[in-house]
Amino acid sequence: MAGLFIFAALCCALAPPALGKGDAKRGAYLAKAGGCAGCHTEGKKGAVPYAGGRELKTPFGTFYGPNITPHAEAGVGRWSETDFMRALRSGLRPDGAHYFPAFPYTSFTGITDADARDLWAFIRSIPPDSRASRPHQLSFPFNLRYLVRFWKWLYFSPGPFAAAARTATLSRGAYLVGALGHCGECHTPRDFVGGLKRDRLLAGAAKGADGKSVPNLTPAKLTKWDDNELKEFLVVGITPDGDVAAETMGEVIRNTTSQLTPEDLSALIAYLRSLPALADKPR
Ligand code: HEC
Ligand code: HEC
Repeated sequence: MAGLFIFAALCCALAPPALGKGDAKRGAYLAKAGGCAGCHTEGKKGAVPYAGGRELKTPFGTFYGPNITPHAEAGVGRWSETDFMRALRSGLRPDGAHYFPAFPYTSFTGITDADARDLWAFIRSIPPDSRASRPHQLSFPFNLRYLVRFWKWLYFSPGPFAAAARTATLSRGAYLVGALGHCGECHTPRDFVGGLKRDRLLAGAAKGADGKSVPNLTPAKLTKWDDNELKEFLVVGITPDGDVAAETMGEVIRNTTSQLTPEDLSALIAYLRSLPALADKPR
């Protein structure tokens, strides 16, 4: 009898997590925390959400966020949940080809399986749209998808996010900043082939994707604002001096940080406060 019970407990503990059981409502919140709409919706009034066409200029050329609505031909309608999880975790297309890291899977790889499942349930719930994805316009040799394999060897360490020994709040903040919110994709400097300089995590970039500088988020700089001022900036987009955030960050504020629950926003700020202070690099 006891043996049977142990067997039953073991078998259930070892069973793979149920597929297709994601929570679309939770996924909708996670999509905001991940800023998915920004890169996957064309930047004009009345654009269909998630139907792609958003222009993303980089030093390597222009990417266009693809259609990720569940349309069978134009979007991801034929994908399985496993295809989706592999795209986020490993930066791989269902046919095995590599995604360009303009899709920030270097951060999204940290998204937990449970959150990825909820995101997938949300994506399945979006109305399908037939708009075809636009091909990227990249300069040679950055247009060669297979070269991304070598880039990944150098710069990509697959997740999921592991909470280091810290409080639950800091751990949540680290996850929101590092995995879902992908703040480092802009606030961490990159080398000449676009690899993030991990020893300068969130220390700001002299030249962001659009050539303009991105500020340092470590306590070497951010001490100039208290928590309430920081919240005001991340929710409303106004600095303590009354300046309005530049559009690149303005979009992140609109789509992501202003949409976070008060607990998540506090956790995000607590985590930024806990980072090692890195002084700005001389330009
Ligand atoms: C910074 C811009 C950016 C953000 C933010 C972003 N994506 Fe993407 N995504 C891209 C780009 C660019 C591609 C295409 C990459 C390629 O062609 O190699 C892509 C590709 C994809 C694909 C594969 C589509 C296909 O047809 O193969 C999926 C699925 C996807 N993204 C989902 C998401 C989800 C879910 C989120 C939010 C958690 C998200 N993306 C956030 C830029 C982004
Ligand atoms: C697409 C690029 C991009 C992403 C992603 C991004 N930021 Fe920013 N951020 C910027 C830019 C550019 C500025 C400068 C805005 C300005 O000068 O008005 C900025 C400014 C800021 C500032 C003001 C700092 C200061 O000293 O002025 C804070 C705080 C900030 N970002 C936090 C975040 C957080 C938290 C995230 C992740 C949720 C994030 N950012 C993601 C580009 C980005």
